[in-house]
Amino acid sequence: MRAIPYGRQHIDEKDIDAVVSTLKADFLTQGPKVKEFEDKFAEYVGAKYAVAVNNATSGLHIAVSALGLKPGERVITTPITFAASANCVRFVGGEVWFADIDPDTYLLSLESTKKLIESKPKGFFKGIIPVDFAGLPVNLEKFRELANAHNLWVIEDACHAPGGYFIDSKGDKHMCGNANYANIGVFSFHPVKHIACGEGGMVTTNSEALYKKLASLRTHGITKDNMSENHGGWFYEMQELGYNYRLTDIQSALGITQLAKNNKGVARRNEIANTYKKAFKGKIKYQDLPKGAYNAHHLFVIEVEDRKGLYDFLRTQHIYAQIHYIPVHKLPYYKDIGYESAALRNSETYYSKCISLPMYPSLTDEEQGFVIEKVLSFVNG
Ligand SMILES: Cc1ncc(COP(=O)(O)O)c(C=O)c1O
Repeated sequence: MRAIPYGRQHIDEKDIDAVVSTLKADFLTQGPKVKEFEDKFAEYVGAKYAVAVNNATSGLHIAVSALGLKPGERVITTPITFAASANCVRFVGGEVWFADIDPDTYLLSLESTKKLIESKPKGFFKGIIPVDFAGLPVNLEKFRELANAHNLWVIEDACHAPGGYFIDSKGDKHMCGNANYANIGVFSFHPVKHIACGEGGMVTTNSEALYKKLASLRTHGITKDNMSENHGGWFYEMQELGYNYRLTDIQSALGITQLAKNNKGVARRNEIANTYKKAFKGKIKYQDLPKGAYNAHHLFVIEVEDRKGLYDFLRTQHIYAQIHYIPVHKLPYYKDIGYESAALRNSETYYSKCISLPMYPSLTDEEQGFVIEKVLSFVNG
């Protein structure tokens, strides 16, 4: 049997044809494909605006910048995420504070976040960055209520969750990144994610002002908005310090064909998740699915006592499971600037046991059966 990774991209002939056509067209970057991808993505998640960027890390950076985060200002996020969810705050000189996760959903705990906010004076924090970890949507209606009570903004790190959704208390469906409850949503198009662009990302919002700011920061802070008849066609202004965080037409062409397959991919991911759950029920703990949530399943995470043992054993079987994540406050950079453990017990317990099993649409039933058999044989001793 071939090696089984924990995740992989799915590229077909349609994807290849789309990229080749773009290579033969007039624009390699900043042509029609970028706008087409933005429009289709915005429509897919149900947001008014989408800004394509070269990766989600850049997207998170311009998101906190557009929301006006200043040096020394404080933002809360989860330790169980990729470092970029926290690093964006550091990029602008802000302070990262971590609240704990829920032990069953592995998402940023609303109660822990509330407790942290209420333990400090009013105005102490500026924002919250919850993460749709593993593809499970955060209930943003509840985070919005908390944020409103304390005048905070919310950025949804939806990198794991294009195609996921939750149902709010009115019965309305909210696709991850629709920016109805969050101010901004951010997605990643790294190859292990649902939509592979090589590198890539998307930032979504419903605010015209934020959209304009995000678009400006993506491209050097340059605009042609003030062009008049007295100016030549070359006229432009650099109005603020921005970046080159642009996605290319080549990547966008791939993003468009990948997006078209996303619902099918997410459905297959859920099928795989249900097969794992059926096999592990009552024997192995896995991520809980709260009522009204549809998990986009970037990952399928289980908890086992001898995590290192299982990880090493699976490798001998050519099954390349992965660990998501080393808690961010445990990474040397964050340790060195004083973020040692404190009250993050659930995150640390979770980290001691978590392991992500293979999860991607092209995983075959036979391969998954082999993974299940090996996991159960290890756990049952
Ligand atoms: C939760 C989360 N946020 C942000 C990122 C950063 O994404 P990118 O690699 O596109 O910069 C990742 C990537 O792994 C991620 O998993």
